[in-house]
Amino acid sequence: MRADPAPLTARRNGPLSGVIRVPGDKSISIRALILGALAVGETRVSGMLEGEDALHAAKAMQALGTRLERTGERQWSIHGVGVGGFAEPANALDFGNSGTGCRLALGAVAGCPITATFDGDDSLRSRPMRRVLDPLQRIGARTLASADGRLPLTIAGARDPMPIVFEPPVASAQLKSAVLLAGLSAPGETVVIEAEPTRDHTEKMLAHFNADIRVEPAGGNARRITLTGQPELVPRPVAVPADPSSAAFPLVAALIVPDSEAILKGVMMNPLRTGLIATLGDMGADIVRLDAGNDGGEEVADLRVRAGALRGVEVPAARAPSMIDEYPVLAVAAAFAEGVTVMRGLKELRVKESDRLAATAALLRGNGVAADIEGDDLIVHGQSRPAGGGLVATHMDHRIAMAAMVLGLASEKPVKIDDSSFIATSFPGFVELMRSLGADLS
Ligand code: S3P
Repeated sequence: MRADPAPLTARRNGPLSGVIRVPGDKSISIRALILGALAVGETRVSGMLEGEDALHAAKAMQALGTRLERTGERQWSIHGVGVGGFAEPANALDFGNSGTGCRLALGAVAGCPITATFDGDDSLRSRPMRRVLDPLQRIGARTLASADGRLPLTIAGARDPMPIVFEPPVASAQLKSAVLLAGLSAPGETVVIEAEPTRDHTEKMLAHFNADIRVEPAGGNARRITLTGQPELVPRPVAVPADPSSAAFPLVAALIVPDSEAILKGVMMNPLRTGLIATLGDMGADIVRLDAGNDGGEEVADLRVRAGALRGVEVPAARAPSMIDEYPVLAVAAAFAEGVTVMRGLKELRVKESDRLAATAALLRGNGVAADIEGDDLIVHGQSRPAGGGLVATHMDHRIAMAAMVLGLASEKPVKIDDSSFIATSFPGFVELMRSLGADLS
C-alpha cells in the first residue's frame, strides 16, 4: 500500500446506463513505446494509455536515450534510436507496478551493449524475473540479481547477441516478447515455440514496423515464431484500441446491476484477448458486438451489454492465456450466477501484481460469497445477491481493486477497498467513467 492510501466504497444504486470508451490497451501502449524507441525516426501513437504503467515505460525509454513528446491528449511521438542504439541510463530504471514494461524492456536492453539497473515498487519487486533472465543469458546478456532473480537487478546487455531457439516453460506473452525483443539485435533467426498461444501484439507490431517475422502452427495449439534479427525497424503510426481488460469492469458491472444497459466503444477483440467474452457468453450474458471493425491492425467492436441472469460454468485451463487478467472480475460475475463456476489452471495468477488467486478468493469470502481454491482451480458458489459489507485488501493490485468495486455496485451492502490508488496503473479515470454510467463510488 502507498503511504497515503485512498480508500474507496462502492454502493448499490439504480441501473447503469450510457456509452463509454475505456482507456487504450496497456499491452499495446507499452509495446508502442518500446518498439518506437527501437525504430529509426518518429513513431506517432494515438489513443495511448496515459496510466502509470505506460508512463513508467515512457520514462524508461527516455532514460535510455529516446526522445518522447506528448503532442496532444493521448497522442505521443517517439523519436527512436534504432535496434541496439540505447544509451546507458544514468540512474536505475523504475517500472513502478508494471511487469510488462519491466520484462519487455529487459529484453530490449539485453541486446544492447549497455548496463542498466531495473527496479519497481514492492509488488513488482516480489514478482519472478528468473524466467526472463534465463533465456536472456543464453542470448549473451549477463545479469546481477539475487538468487531468486527479483528486482532490483542489473543487466549488462550482450556485445555479440546470439540467436536462440526458446520454448517458454510458462504461457507468458511477456516472456515471449522479451526474447523476441532481445533477438532483434542478434544475427540470424531467433525462434520462440509457444505450447499455448498468448497475446500476439509483439509479433503483430514487429511486422507492422517492417521486421521479418513468421508465425506458423507447430502441432496442437503450438505456434512457432521466427524473427530475423538486425532489421531496420521503420516507424509506423500506432492507433491504440480500447483495452478489453479494462472494459471487463464496466462490462461485468452492467451485467450484474439489474436493468443496466451500456455500450463500450472500440474495444479490442484480438482473439487471444477475448476469453472473458466467450466465458460470459457461456454463462448466458447478453453481450452483442455492434460495428465490428479494425483499428491499428487489431479487430475492434462496440459492445452492447444488458443485465440479465447468469449461470455457473466450467472454464477450461486452456482458456486462461486469453483471459489471464480477467479472472478477478469473472469471479465477481460468478458470485451473481446461478450455480457453481469452476475456473481451472490458474497457477500464473499467483505471480501477478498480487497473489491474485488468494486475493480473489479473499475478496469474495469477505463479502459473503463461498469461494474455494483447490490446487490451481478457483471455485465460486453463486447466489442471487451477495451480502457485500466487506473491506477488501487490494495488495497493490489494480484489478483486485476494480473487481471489488464492481461487486459493491450490486451487492446488498457497500464494499470498501483499502486503497484505490493503484487503479491508475491501468485505468486512469475509472471512478469518473463508472460514475458517468450511474455508479455510486465515493
Ligand atoms: C501481458 C501479458 C500477461 C498479462 C499482463 C500483460 C503483456 O502477463 O498478465 O497484464 O502485455 O504481454 P504474462 O506474460 O506474465 O502472462
